[in-house]
Parts: sequence; structure tokens; C-alpha cells
Amino acid sequence: MSDEPVAVAANTAVGTESISLGDKFSNFMSNAMENNPYFAAGGGLMLLGTGLAVAKTGMVKGSRLLYQQMIVDLEIQSKDRAYSWFLTWMSQYPKRVSKHLSVRTNYIQHDNGSVSTKFDLVPGPGNHWIRYKGAFILIKRERSTRMLDISNGSPYETVTLKTLYRDRDLFDSILREAKEMALKTSEGKTVIYTSFGPEWRRFGQPKAKRSLPSVILDKNIKDNIMKDVHDFLKNGKWYSDRGIPYRRGYLLYGPPGSGKTSFIQALAGELDYNICILNLSENNLTDDRLNHLMNNLPQRSILLLEDIDAAFNKRHQTSEQGFQSNVTFSGLLNALDGVTSSEETITFMTTNHPERLDSAILRPGRVDYKVFVGDATKYQVREMFLKFYPDERLLCEAFVKEILTLDKPVSTAQLQGLFVMNKDDPQSAVEMAPYIADPNQFATQR
Ligand SMILES: Nc1ncnc2c1ncn2[C@@H]1O[C@H](COP(=O)(O)OP(=O)(O)OP(=O)(O)O)[C@@H](O)[C@H]1O
Ligand SMILES: [Mg+2]
Repeated sequence: MSDEPVAVAANTAVGTESISLGDKFSNFMSNAMENNPYFAAGGGLMLLGTGLAVAKTGMVKGSRLLYQQMIVDLEIQSKDRAYSWFLTWMSQYPKRVSKHLSVRTNYIQHDNGSVSTKFDLVPGPGNHWIRYKGAFILIKRERSTRMLDISNGSPYETVTLKTLYRDRDLFDSILREAKEMALKTSEGKTVIYTSFGPEWRRFGQPKAKRSLPSVILDKNIKDNIMKDVHDFLKNGKWYSDRGIPYRRGYLLYGPPGSGKTSFIQALAGELDYNICILNLSENNLTDDRLNHLMNNLPQRSILLLEDIDAAFNKRHQTSEQGFQSNVTFSGLLNALDGVTSSEETITFMTTNHPERLDSAILRPGRVDYKVFVGDATKYQVREMFLKFYPDERLLCEAFVKEILTLDKPVSTAQLQGLFVMNKDDPQSAVEMAPYIADPNQFATQR
């Protein structure tokens, strides 16, 4: 019984001891703060420092929040179509301050061999300011040094536009202007795409549309094809209701220079379509690339596969050295069958050697419509002559007679060549007619 109070006393003693130690420490501190000026100043500074640091973090966070609330930005990536539209718009925008410019060169080789070059000074990587409808907009173009756009191997780029939140609607307006500007340059024109690696790229500037009447084919050929294409384009629902792929293939075959390519380009212009040209005899065009390209056509385009007989020389993709070469026959068939687009697909194919084609390609669904486009007929000779010399009916008959007595095939391209040589001189065109295959000989005979 007597043990317990002792234990309590011992406990109490320990408790008393610790309280008095704490008291001692706080007494010592308050003494030091009150009586030692150095120590007091140090403590004050410490408190002040901590206070300032907290305030600074608060301000940084606050201003960041404010910035986020007040500034809006818009990022345009180089893989987006709006990217090049925007750069072009910017290059023509008068109120801008840019010290960094890049050059973008448009190089066009015309049919007659001449070359024209146009330089666009577009904003280079870095910061640029513009004033647009009263608002300041900061434009930052950045080029990634590490990332490449895998579709074309060029550096990955972005353009970021920043402005005040209240001016955010201006982004929409800028993009709309840029798009309209881009569309205007191709209005009334045909955009030609060619393949560049695995993607389609515009080939030069959009070309003025070639008019259908300027291509002279034998009677009814143009009208019949046009009728068929229009009929196809009207029947999208019919195809989808029956689960049939919405595509149609046309084959134009015949000798060189008979107007096959010209007609397809004119047809694209007439329908207001663009045209994607692939030459199957091109080296480095593999089955995979062909398939990829055919399944990724730009909108509203006609696919033109030139020289399809090239695919019938090879049954295997690899040459003896193991290098990949042209498209194979099975690659072409697979690509034609595999086109899976929700939109209509119009494919035109051309060849000078129909005899080399395998009958498998002529199956409906691959080639649905084929037509021979041959050397000039009497009708075409007459029409071509009158196209160049509209009022010369008498000379026209003389010319037709000369060509018929030759009794040799004459291509429409040869006729065009002769008329171009005698632009304002139909009489001379008639005299040169017997030498149409070799007009130089005419000069030496004189
Ligand atoms: N029927 C035609 N009507 C008007 N121009 C023609 C005609 N045929 C050829 N030409 C002219 O001849 C040139 C070559 O024509 P195009 O390239 O269309 O021939 P092609 O049939 O495609 O030849 P290839 O089989 O060699 O590819 C063009 O400049 C074109 O204007
Ligand atoms: Mg051609």
C-alpha cells in the first residue's frame, strides 16, 4: 500500500522537472529577444524574409493565374493545312514587325520548258508582332530540332498566336482570311498533286483549267465519258445502299500524244476536281507506297495512274540486288481493290500498251470503262485545224486532204506541233502537211 504514493510522487517530480526546463528555455528566449538587440533584429529579419517569400510565391501564382485568364493562345502545327495558309497570309499582312524572315520558293516549270520562280518572304522562326483590327498579337514560330514530321521528313514546326482574352475572336477571323486567300489562288484552277514520299504534295502553282473543248477527241468519246462520270457522281446513295465500294475506274489506251492526259486534266477542271498523278513507271514507287497514297487522296481529286503497263513487267517487288523497284501487278490490283474511302473515288488509268495488260485488271470494279484514244481521225484533223485557224474553211479542206493522202498515222500532238510552228500562217501549215512527221525536212526541201 505504501508504494503507490511514492510512485505518484516520483511521477510528479519528473513532470515538475520538465515544465521547469521548458519554462527556463522560454524565459531565456524572451530575455534574449528583449535584452539582446542583435538577436531581436535577426529574428525580425527572419520573419520578414519568410513573409516576403510567401508573398512572392503568392504573387507569382496570382500573376500566372491572371495571365492564364487574360491571355489566350492558339497553336497551329505544321502537319495541319492551316499552317501554310497562315504563313502565306502573314507574308502578305502589311502591319507586322518581323526581323526574322524565311524564304519560300515557288518554282514552276511550264509546258514550254520555261521556268518561273516566285519568292515569298514568310515569317521565320522567332517572335513576331502584328497589329490586327486594333489588337496586338504575338506570333511565335518554333522549329523542333529533335522531332521530325515522319510523313515528309521535315522538321516539326508550330506557330503559336497569343493575344488578350477579350480579342480571342480574332483568331477565327485570321484563319478564315488565310483560308480564303489560299482558296482564291486556286479558284478556277486545277491543283495538281504528285507523290512525295508517302504523301501527296502540290505540284507547282494551281494551273489554269484546261477547257474541255480545247481537247479534240474522236466523235462522242468525250460526251460518253462525261455522261458516265456524271451518272456515277449522282449515285452515291445507290452504291452505299447496296454496300458496293463507291469507286469507278476508267482506262484510256492508245498511242502517245493522242490527248489522254490532256483530256483527264480538262475533265478534272470541268468537274472542279483536283488531280493526283502517279506514274507507275517511276522508280522507287513500291506496292506499299502505292497503297498508302491511293488510300489517302486529298479531297475532291481524281486519281490518275499513268503508264499502268509498267506494273505488268514485274511480278516480284525485289530486284536481284534486293532493292525495291516499281510497283508489281499484284500490288496494283490490291491497291485498286483496297481503296476504302467514304467519298467517291474516280481513277483514270492510261497506257500506250494495252496488249501488255493482264486481263485481271480489266475486271469490273477495277476498270469499269475503257476506251481507245487513237491517232487523229479525219474529224479530229478538221477540228484541230479550225481550232487554230477558225475562219479558214477552204484551207482546212486542203489540209485534211494532204493528211489523208499521207496514209500514215498522225497524232493530235503532231498536228498541234505543226500549227504552233505556223501560228498565223495556215497556208504554210497546209504546205508543211506532207512533212508533218519531220517538219525539219520541209525546210531542207525548200
Ligand atoms: N486530242 C487532242 N486535242 C488537243 N490537244 C492535244 C490532243 N492530243 C494531244 N494534244 C496536245 O499534245 C500534247 C500531248 O498530249 P497528251 O500529253 O495529252 O497526250 P497523251 O495521250 O497523254 O500522250 P502519252 O500517251 O504519251 O502520255 C499536249 O500539249 C496536248 O495539248
Ligand atoms: Mg499522257
